[in-house]
Amino acid sequence: MKIDGKSYKTIWFENNLVKIIDQTKLPHQFIIKDLKIVKDAINAIKTMEVRGAPLIGATAAYGLVLSIIEKNDLSFLKKSSEELIASRPTAINLKWAVDRMMKKLSGVNNKDILKIALGEAKAITEEDEKFCKNIGLNGLKIIEDVANKKKDTVNILTHCNAGWLATIDWGTATSPIYHAHQKGIKLHVWVDETRPRNQGANLTSYELNEEGISNTIITDNAGGILMQRGEVDMCIVGTDRTLSNGDVCNKIGTYLKALSAKDNNVPFYVALPSSTIDWDIKDHKKIPIEERNSEELSHVEGVDENKEIKKVRIYPQKSKSLNLAFDVTPAKLITGLITEKGVCEASEKGLRGLFK
Ligand code: MRU
Repeated sequence: MKIDGKSYKTIWFENNLVKIIDQTKLPHQFIIKDLKIVKDAINAIKTMEVRGAPLIGATAAYGLVLSIIEKNDLSFLKKSSEELIASRPTAINLKWAVDRMMKKLSGVNNKDILKIALGEAKAITEEDEKFCKNIGLNGLKIIEDVANKKKDTVNILTHCNAGWLATIDWGTATSPIYHAHQKGIKLHVWVDETRPRNQGANLTSYELNEEGISNTIITDNAGGILMQRGEVDMCIVGTDRTLSNGDVCNKIGTYLKALSAKDNNVPFYVALPSSTIDWDIKDHKKIPIEERNSEELSHVEGVDENKEIKKVRIYPQKSKSLNLAFDVTPAKLITGLITEKGVCEASEKGLRGLFK
């Protein structure tokens, strides 16, 4: 998708370096950053210079490429893979991508390993881009149905950033929106601010602006009243881990949106590539929920009148805070899962029907 009219992907490999867009500086500064060694990739994931389930998976895959360039040695590669997996616990794509890379590299000799690693990391990014495009085409049909019935602007609510910045391109939740916009359907997006890191305001609104899509940032608590007023036609969100029973673990606050949507008969869709499905964990209580630094709550960052990025404390110094980064939306609250293979019910039967 575009920034300042120029097309970008979120990650690419050039001259033995991994290039990323530093998302901690958006929307105020657009900075392309070089990752030179595997530690840079681990750090980029931990500090959320890259974030979003599919993108952290792709970054981990390229992190292993950097590990091989740094030191072509099996025990170093294994250590790198473990550190990459541990860098953010909730999104399953991270482990999925590292496991896929390590399987591909197992038994490969030192002479060929870099070429094969690079090929597989590239395959992961290309596949994600293709899957996200297909998610868009499958979700487009749902938006078209709403538009045909309503014969007026379709209002879609989304949470966090499941946009192209969270993937390689297109996004998951935003892909149907981008496809509908390209087809000329009149749309407006309610963008949840998404405290504490404001991925909705800083990233989703930013990318929708760059594509010329009408959007309004709302506080995380405003979705309920907008739904009661009939101002939301549907919700589409992303996911960091989808259990085989259809339960969805996504950015904190998603669950409350789904409850509100259920109470107001607003369809609630989750968009995902199959790399986000966890076929092993059966009970959502077993999902490792990331607890991040409480400073993300107690401090806010923004630009001052000189356009300099500043961070200020907003909480009483003595107050404690708890920063849980994700919650789980039970399948019973989800209208459907929009995947690269089609739309299905949020259930084991639905998912198995698409993914044998
Ligand atoms: O903490 P983040 O910003 O990585 O959380 C991102 C989300 O919760 C997204 O909704 C999810 O990763 C889906 S990405 C297409």
